Amino acid sequence: MLGASIINIALALAAATHVQADLRLVRYGPKPDDVATVPIEALEAIHGPDGHHDISALDNFPDLNAGFVEAMTNHKRGPGFLDLTGLDPIPGPSEAARFAATYPTPNATAHPNLATYFTQISVSSLTSTITTLASYTTRYYKSTNARAPALWVYNSFVSLLGSSSVTLFENTPSFNQPNVIARIEGSNSSLSNEPIIIGAHLDSINQRSPTSGTAPGADDDASGIAVLLEVARILGAAGWKGSRPIELMAYAGEEGGMLGSANIAASYSSKGIAVRAALQFDMIGYQKQSKPVLTVLGDTGGTALIAFSHSLLTAYVPEGTQYDNACGYACSDNFSWDNYGYAAVSIDESGPNDSFLNPYYHTTSDTLSQMNVTKMASFVKLALAWAVELAE
Ligand SMILES: *[C@@H]1O[C@H](CO)[C@@H](O)[C@H](O)[C@H]1NC(C)=O
Ligand SMILES: *[C@@H]1O[C@H](CO)[C@@H](O)[C@H](O)[C@H]1NC(C)=O
Ligand SMILES: *[C@@H]1O[C@H](CO)[C@@H](O)[C@H](O)[C@H]1NC(C)=O
Ligand SMILES: *[C@@H]1O[C@H](CO)[C@@H](O)[C@H](O)[C@H]1NC(C)=O
Ligand SMILES: *[C@@H]1O[C@H](CO)[C@@H](O)[C@H](O)[C@H]1NC(C)=O
Ligand SMILES: [Zn+2]
Repeated sequence: MLGASIINIALALAAATHVQADLRLVRYGPKPDDVATVPIEALEAIHGPDGHHDISALDNFPDLNAGFVEAMTNHKRGPGFLDLTGLDPIPGPSEAARFAATYPTPNATAHPNLATYFTQISVSSLTSTITTLASYTTRYYKSTNARAPALWVYNSFVSLLGSSSVTLFENTPSFNQPNVIARIEGSNSSLSNEPIIIGAHLDSINQRSPTSGTAPGADDDASGIAVLLEVARILGAAGWKGSRPIELMAYAGEEGGMLGSANIAASYSSKGIAVRAALQFDMIGYQKQSKPVLTVLGDTGGTALIAFSHSLLTAYVPEGTQYDNACGYACSDNFSWDNYGYAAVSIDESGPNDSFLNPYYHTTSDTLSQMNVTKMASFVKLALAWAVELAE
């Protein structure tokens, strides 16, 4: 009897420390305790038929963690949670690292090459990227064709920067859609461990029907990927090199809880890679105002980076309207970096709850016809200035 109950206790402990295949371990807020184990069906149900996040669908899951339900109820854009399943150790925000960094004062005189690069921004090249990515029925990270758009992004980077500059960062066995990382090496080898990151997500989602619905995701987030490829095209053609490396990252599985970027951030953290700053573009092409709107989303600190972002916009993107908003927790992939203590910011067309937000995102109507690619060029200017000012 004694022996049997010890075995039972041991089995119970073993079960408790393993997350079952259909359960995901998620972080839904910044506090250390904002972590819950949630069925994957509940996470997918949030992308339900009524509104961007159909919270009523969670009624079918009566045992859900109350803090998780409350956080999802108050959340507007993006998944609202980070999927930590399989990531070890479970990360917590590190305020110290985020606030420690200092950034340069933008100086256009010191970077005369930027003005030349700005003249090379091509609306037709941006349009072509969006058209191609939107032509996949869906880029959902669990669709049977989830790998194909990632490989297209990979091949596009290879043609612009050469195959030795581009890697696939696999997310298997969790799901079969890799992240794509293009690296422009820096000239100072003692800074090779301190990359500057610019990212966007390559997956898309149809909120009514994630696994089979059409999800062009032209704005969300083919627009962000188009900026990355345009930066690669211009800097690659110029043969530009900074002293620090630049890494252009196309993340997989953002809509599933920032899965791809969480895997990269965990890996970089465990390798001691000292990412200096990460910039995220998620939905930048829906621009109905007279001037392009560039919204700096900064509700979780990183104040030095947010101040730098504004000064960069003032110096290099004078045609834009600067706007600040907050996103709530886990709005986009910059949160994966933030979660490991890296300084990260997202600059987008809008916040989650204002009139600039694209009303068609996560639907079959998130198409190029709703966007203004001319105004997207302002985000390419921001990305080029970000790369050159931080890496030269
Ligand atoms: C900007 O850069 C130029 C050229 O390097 C330099 O002469 C000037 O002093 C810099 N301005 C500031 C405010 O640092
Ligand atoms: C390379 O970076 C290191 C570390 O910041 C710096 O001390 C060194 O002066 C740099 N070398 C060159 C050639 O700029
Ligand atoms: C990262 O972006 C999110 C929006 O996606 C924003 O809420 C958050 O404040 C950003 N993080 C930092 C450190 O600015
Ligand atoms: C969204 O905006 C409306 C109108 O400004 C406001 O009443 C509401 O509280 C906002 N909701 C959130 C979650 O910020
Ligand atoms: C797109 O923006 C440009 C630049 O502001 C403007 O000239 C053009 O009319 C806009 N296109 C549409 C369809 O609104
Ligand atoms: Zn989205």
